[in-house]
Formats: sequence, C-alpha cells, structure tokens
Amino acid sequence: MLNIVIFGAPGSGKGTQSEKIIAGYGLNHISTGDVLRSEISRQTDLGKVADSYISKGQLVPDQLIIDILESVLDGQKDSKGVIFDGFPRTTPQAIALKEMLEKRGTGISAVIALEVDEAELIERLLERGKISGRSDDNLETIQKRLDVYRNQTSPLIDYYKSKDLYNGILGMGTIEEIFNRIKQVIDKL
Ligand code: AP5
Ligand code: MG
Repeated sequence: MLNIVIFGAPGSGKGTQSEKIIAGYGLNHISTGDVLRSEISRQTDLGKVADSYISKGQLVPDQLIIDILESVLDGQKDSKGVIFDGFPRTTPQAIALKEMLEKRGTGISAVIALEVDEAELIERLLERGKISGRSDDNLETIQKRLDVYRNQTSPLIDYYKSKDLYNGILGMGTIEEIFNRIKQVIDKL
C-alpha cells in the first residue's frame, strides 16, 4: 500500500494537493477536517463537540479523532493506499497512526510536507474566508490555528525526520508546480 501523510500548516495546500494526488495515483483520501465539517453540517452530537473546538482554532481531543480515523480506515479495506490530510497533528496521533497501520500489515510510505511562508498562509486563508463559510477562516482564528500548528503539530517534523520519512517540499508557486515536486517524491517510492 502507498500511504502518504500530507503535512503542513493551515492553508499550506494539503486539500488542494490531495485532490491532485488522488487523480494521479488512485489513492483514497482521509481529511479529518472534512470528516468533522461533515458532522457539523449534519448537526450530529460529534459535530456539536467538534464545532466547539474548530471555531476557536483549537484541536479536537486526540482520542476523539483517533477513534474517527480507525472507523474510516475500517471502511476502506481494499484501497491501494491512503492520503492522510490533517492527521496526525500531535505526537500521540502519530504514534496511534503507526499502530493502526501496523495492525493492518502496512505503514507510512512517506510524509510530504508543504512548506509555505506564514504571510502567504494568512493571505490564502483570508481570501478563502470570503467565500468558504468556514467558521475558522477569520484573522483571529487563523492566528490561533497557526499558534496551535507551531506548538502542537510542528514537533512532528523532527519526529518524522528521525524516522527518515520526512520530505519537505516548497509549497509556494502554482498548484501545478507544487504537484510536480510532489510527484518527484512519490515516483521514487
Ligand atoms: P483542517 O480542515 O485540516 O484545516 P487546516 O489544517 O487548518 O488546513 P486547511 O484545510 O485550512 O488548509 P489546507 O492545507 O488543506 O489548504 P487548502 O488546500 O485548503 O482542520 C480544521 C480544524 O479541524 C482544525 O483546526 C481542528 O480544529 C480540527 N482538526 C482537523 N484534523 C484534526 C486532527 N487530526 N486533530 C485534532 N483536530 C483536528 O488551501 C488553502 C487555500 O489556499 C485555498 O483557498 C486554496 O485554493 C488556496 N491555494 C492552495 N494552493 C495554492 C497555491 N499554490 N497558490 C495560491 N493559493 C493556493
Ligand atoms: Mg484542508
């Protein structure tokens, strides 16, 4: 199986590039943010809990998201591989992902990290906020999300470097230019 973690700060292009990877390589896509937003729009109990964190730019609790991921993975048993978008975001999540994949006889093939300047991240998210309807695409919450990324998620860079899985990619330029850089990594796997 080809299992790819697409990693990066809010607005770095994880969702955009995941779509290109799905089209190019026939992988399944798991975006924990999309799963949570779908629960919110259906006003489920889980959605109500998730909304109270997302709208403040905070991470939902690890165990909640790990349980969700486990059940999504169970629904995708025959896949060629999975793109993990927005997961893991903390060290406990990274350890849980490793264990979940090992239990299924597989592992992470590569972590592809989109590296983008903070000024550009803010500009992209403010621009998207004009039309997205996302409760977290406003300046105050964007800044909170970037803080959370720096404090809770960026330690995973060293974690994955130490496991020799980390591939940093320049995440600026056109969508096509960035996808070409990603293809160079995937085609070597
Ligand atoms: P999530 O949905 O994962 O959001 P995020 O990480 O904040 O990132 P975004 O989805 O905003 O950005 P992206 O990197 O996908 O970029 P995109 O392609 O959209 O998480 C949301 C929340 O859910 C979290 O804050 C948390 O509360 C919760 N959550 C989710 N997962 C969790 C987990 N594992 N644990 C705990 N909580 C979790 O691009 C952004 C914009 O830029 C778009 O408008 C796009 O069109 C544009 N763009 C893309 N590429 C380019 C380019 N090359 N040039 C110019 N513009 C571009
Ligand atoms: Mg996204």
